[in-house]
Amino acid sequence: MDRKLKILNKKHIVVAGSKGMLGESLVQSLENQGATVYQLDLNNKPGENKFECDITDKAQVKQALSEIKSKTDNVTGIVNLAAINPTIDSLGNNTRLSDFNFSKDLESISLTYSGTLNLVSELEDLLSEYSSVVLVGSDLSLISPDQRIYCNCNGSPEMHKAQCSLKPPSYSFEKFGLIGLTKYLSTYFGPKGIRVNCICPGPVDTDFSENFRRRLVERTPMGRLATTKDLNSSIQFLLSDMSDFVTGVALPVDGGRSVW
Ligand SMILES: NC(=O)c1ccc[n+]([C@@H]2O[C@H](COP(=O)([O-])OP(=O)(O)OC[C@H]3O[C@@H](n4cnc5c(N)ncnc54)[C@H](O)[C@@H]3O)[C@@H](O)[C@H]2O)c1
Repeated sequence: MDRKLKILNKKHIVVAGSKGMLGESLVQSLENQGATVYQLDLNNKPGENKFECDITDKAQVKQALSEIKSKTDNVTGIVNLAAINPTIDSLGNNTRLSDFNFSKDLESISLTYSGTLNLVSELEDLLSEYSSVVLVGSDLSLISPDQRIYCNCNGSPEMHKAQCSLKPPSYSFEKFGLIGLTKYLSTYFGPKGIRVNCICPGPVDTDFSENFRRRLVERTPMGRLATTKDLNSSIQFLLSDMSDFVTGVALPVDGGRSVW
């Protein structure tokens, strides 16, 4: 066997959300596997195959894709990582449902829904048999957030409001909904041999506080958090011909977190 075989040789892949924490590492890993990658992100500095693009804006998506269409007539993969993530620092002291601004939550729900549909609908003509779409959910596409992870009060009611937060309900709505959209699109595109899957990563290890990391690890059967390498290889598998009869799947990449 050729040891230098690259599993994404000759693949043309559009990555949205390419400038984010997972995006930059993914783009590099896809290129290392032989793919030509077209990068879309709100925060991209335009360059070779790099587009500054708000994927919720159909006109901007059309503009970026028209340039991509001038370079290839066969897009073999799409990965959508674009998101507005509630980080641990951004959660604030929302310890009751009434603390949330539900209309603001619509921004991120709309990004996931309209951003995904803008990409796949505008690229539909360039997708063909063996093309693969990968959407990115979360372990929280499969289970409820365990709100105890976000609690720093050690059970003290006085400290609860000051030190704790709830993961917002919009995150569950959006991430569970993404699996419904994955299944919908997999049946829509199935007859053309185009596959649509969703990966559901557990939290990727970053600069979490020691306590927060410990609480996450305790809830993970494999006893560690995800790395970008874990996610990149799963996405590569779904984009490659090695998964050519896999569609409509929500693939947990979470060390067993969603089993408990
Ligand atoms: N990082 C993790 O630990 C983790 C864990 C589970 C799931 N996920 C999921 O993985 C995906 C990517 O996560 P990340 O950590 O890389 O997020 P991130 O916030 O670092 O990156 C998101 C990227 O999307 C871009 N973006 C936002 N709105 C956009 C728009 N309208 N148009 C185009 N681009 C836009 C941002 O500029 C940013 O570069 C998200 O769906 C997230 O929920 C991440």
